Amino acid sequence: MGSADRDVTRVAIVGAGPSGLFAAQALVGQSEVPVQVDLIDRLPCPYGLLRYGVAPDHTSIKSVANALARTFDSDGVRFLGNVEFGRDVSRADLLAAYDAVVYAAGASEDAQLGVPGEDLPGSRSAREFVAWYSGHPDAPEQDLSGVRVAAVIGVGNVAVDVARVLAKTAESLEVTDMPPGVLAELHRHEADDIHVIARRGPHHAAFTTVELRELVHTPGLQVTVNEDAFDGIPDDLDRRPKANVEILREAAAKVVENPRRRLHFSFWRKPIAVEGDGRVEALVLERTRLDEAGKVVGTGETQRLETQLVLRSIGYRSVALPGVPFDERAAVISNVEGRIVDAAGVVQPREYVVGWIKRGPTGVIGTNKSDASQTVRHLVADLVAARAEGSDDFGAGGGERPDLAAVLAARGHDVVSLDGWRAIDAAEIARGAALGRERTKLDSWPELMGASHRLQG
Ligand SMILES: Cc1cc2nc3c(=O)[nH]c(=O)nc-3n(C[C@H](O)[C@H](O)[C@H](O)COP(=O)(O)OP(=O)(O)OC[C@H]3O[C@@H](n4cnc5c(N)ncnc54)[C@H](O)[C@@H]3O)c2cc1C
Ligand SMILES: NC(=O)c1ccc[n+]([C@@H]2O[C@H](COP(=O)([O-])OP(=O)(O)OC[C@H]3O[C@@H](n4cnc5c(N)ncnc54)[C@H](OP(=O)(O)O)[C@@H]3O)[C@@H](O)[C@H]2O)c1
Repeated sequence: MGSADRDVTRVAIVGAGPSGLFAAQALVGQSEVPVQVDLIDRLPCPYGLLRYGVAPDHTSIKSVANALARTFDSDGVRFLGNVEFGRDVSRADLLAAYDAVVYAAGASEDAQLGVPGEDLPGSRSAREFVAWYSGHPDAPEQDLSGVRVAAVIGVGNVAVDVARVLAKTAESLEVTDMPPGVLAELHRHEADDIHVIARRGPHHAAFTTVELRELVHTPGLQVTVNEDAFDGIPDDLDRRPKANVEILREAAAKVVENPRRRLHFSFWRKPIAVEGDGRVEALVLERTRLDEAGKVVGTGETQRLETQLVLRSIGYRSVALPGVPFDERAAVISNVEGRIVDAAGVVQPREYVVGWIKRGPTGVIGTNKSDASQTVRHLVADLVAARAEGSDDFGAGGGERPDLAAVLAARGHDVVSLDGWRAIDAAEIARGAALGRERTKLDSWPELMGASHRLQG
């Protein structure tokens, strides 16, 4: 990408997950303004949660990666991996090098329960657990030894994913791209009782029916549901909650001979403490109900569940990017339909946002496509308007902009290019082939960076 061509608009996208890739596709796919895009990611690999979130045994959704990979077929798109916003590049660097910046950094932290003991060893977020089994190079190791009872808090699709991974046999996961160390740990695990805890009723659960059905039909799994779970369920439920309630009733009524593991749903229970001497030994739950305003309140009735592993699956949380306006309460970059605004609501020219960091940590991969289209529509409209007015907002007045890849190279930074990522991809496929699998992930920085250098000049 030459620095001299001022007729071509240059856009940096921070984050090469689904939302960043959809934004890049929308930018190079429109014909109003010629655009070149740099996709910047802190990891040496694109795809965000598609690679490090979507469950490894859900191979059909992984094929979405093939559709997203086509983003890189365009000559107008580059990948700059191993480049972290806030560490390797600043907001000022990007605004100097690009006409516009789109933040697509997702949600890299967790919502907190806010109960005593939630940070005890043995209590961790589902995000960390998912990152571990997905081979994320920053994921903390998981030690499942001594875990006989596991508790998952929350009933969204992430809770279903982690419960399913714990419920399945390690043998059945051998075919996935999980790293060998993860599979070895899953082979060691002896958690024969898995509790899934919901603070409201079965008809309020956030999980989708397909995912619930798959979980309760895990071979060899006996499902139980607490007796009071179905009290007070209205007759006129919408399709999804109705189907979920039916599946739960059926699963609880079915007796599985010689079950390998047991999955216990506890509805109308909220955690009020995680207890243990130096590590998790128990979870204290309080029975709940809805008050007149529909808010979850405790009834004062408590129970103690002995457990050695607590996985908090109550949602992800985005974090502020240095210098970029952030709404701490909503945990999103402050924006109006993807145009970034400051605390006073004033639009910040040339800065945009897409994906989970724009609207919060909900929605499937496809949701990010329409979301990115909305932002890109505004970006292109602003660009066209600025050019028509001869405004300097998008640097239409000319002047050289530095090439970020060259700037980083001059600083001695090891940027992973698209070829570098393709080398990682090839190394993982080769590693998998040696084990009779489609892919086996590299899960450490030295392995990833080492592989990225193999095909690079
Ligand atoms: C566990 C889990 C399983 C899921 N399973 C499914 C599923 O089966 N099907 C489905 O349709 N949806 C699924 N989803 C939802 C889907 O993954 C999200 O909708 C989607 O990934 C959000 O896209 P995003 O680009 O906003 O964020 P992300 O996918 O998180 O991408 C953000 C990218 O930004 C990068 N980044 C972060 N900070 C920086 C920084 N400072 N500098 C540079 N780069 C940075 C990250 O490395 C990452 O690559 C799942 C979500 C989770 C959490
Ligand atoms: N296969 C798939 O398609 C797939 C797989 C994984 C993820 N995803 C998507 O990714 C997004 C994120 O999923 P997610 O599971 O992280 O979030 P989610 O769907 O928002 O579910 C969060 C769960 O946590 C509960 N919760 C929140 N705060 C709590 C608290 N303080 N105490 C107890 N429980 C609490 C919520 O209960 P309340 O309802 O009571 O608040 C809810 O059950 C979703 O859109 C999901 O569909 C999709």
